[in-house]
Amino acid sequence: MLAPDETVTLYDFEPRVDTFREAVVAGLSQSPRFIPAKFFYDARGSHLFEQITELEAYYPTRTEIAILEAHMAAIVERIGPRAMLVEYGSGSSRKTRLLLDHLIDPAGYVPIDISREHLLASARALARRFPDLPILAVCADYMDDVPLPRPEGPVNRIVAFFPGSTIGNLEPDDAVAFLRHVAGVVGPGGGLLIGVDLQKDARVLERAYNDEHGVTAAFNLNLLARINRELEGTFDLETFRHHAFYNAEQGRIEMHLVSRIDQTVCLGDGPCFDLVAGETIRTEYSYKYTLEGFAALAERAGFHVETVWTDPQAFFSLQFLHA
Ligand code: AVI
Repeated sequence: MLAPDETVTLYDFEPRVDTFREAVVAGLSQSPRFIPAKFFYDARGSHLFEQITELEAYYPTRTEIAILEAHMAAIVERIGPRAMLVEYGSGSSRKTRLLLDHLIDPAGYVPIDISREHLLASARALARRFPDLPILAVCADYMDDVPLPRPEGPVNRIVAFFPGSTIGNLEPDDAVAFLRHVAGVVGPGGGLLIGVDLQKDARVLERAYNDEHGVTAAFNLNLLARINRELEGTFDLETFRHHAFYNAEQGRIEMHLVSRIDQTVCLGDGPCFDLVAGETIRTEYSYKYTLEGFAALAERAGFHVETVWTDPQAFFSLQFLHA
C-alpha cells in the first residue's frame, strides 16, 4: 500500500495483537503474579518512558547516544555502504536519525513494529528528514516470519538495529530465540547493531529504576491505571507501591508493584483476585549482561560479536554482531 503524500511504503502483515485482557487475566492468575512489560506502552506509558530517558538517574539512553556519537565513523565503516537497515521497533528516536545521518549511501530503511500507528508516524517523520531514502515500513510482530521488502537498487548487506537494551527485557532463552530469528532475517554476512546494558554497581542500577522524581514509579503504576481505564479494573493506586531492585544472582533489575494491604481487585464483573499485604505483581525484568555473557548468548543464536564500543565507565555497550 502506498501513502502517496510521503516516501513511505507500508507492508501490512496484520499481526495479531495479544489482547491486554487475556494477558492480564493469565498473569494475575499465576503465582507469583505478573503483567507482561510490553503493556507499559500505551499513550501515557510511552510518554512517561520518554521522560525516563531524559532523567539524570537513567543513564542508558544518553550513554548509548554518547557511544554512537563518539564512535560513529567506526560504526558506519563496520556497517559499510549500501546497507539495508532493518530496525526492530519504530525509529522515532534520536539514535535512528543519528545513524541515518551518517550511514554511507544506505540502500533503504525498514522499520518493523506491531503498532501500525507508531510505525507510520515515525516512518513519516523520518521520510521528511530523509526524502531520498526508501522507507519500507513493515507492520508485523518482531518474531513473525514475514518476507522483508527490498528497496530498489543494489543492497550490499542487511543490518538490523536494536538499540536501547530492549533485548534486556526478554528472558535469556527468549533473547536467544529473538536473536536467532534476526540472524535468519539478515542472513549470512548480515549484521546486527545492538545496545546492551552492562552489569555494574547495584547502586547505579537501582537508582536508574528508582528515580527521585518518581517518574519510573508513575510508569510502573500506570499499568494499573491502564487496567482501570481499559478493562474496568478496580485497582486503587494508593494501595500499591513501586518496587525495583537488582537481583545480582540473575543479573537483572526486577520491577514489581507491591500491595500495601490485603485486598480484592476485579476486572469489571470478574474475574477478581485476592492479594495479601506485601504480595507483588512483577511487571518487568531488565537483564544486564557482562560482555562475556552476552557474547555467549549471541553465539547460541548464530551471531559472532565483531566489535564492542562502550563509554569510559563501561556502563553500556553498543555491539556489532556478524551473522
Ligand atoms: C525499554 N527498556 C529497555 C527499559 C529498561 O530499562 O528496561 C524500560 C524501563 N523500565 C523502567 N525504566 C525503563
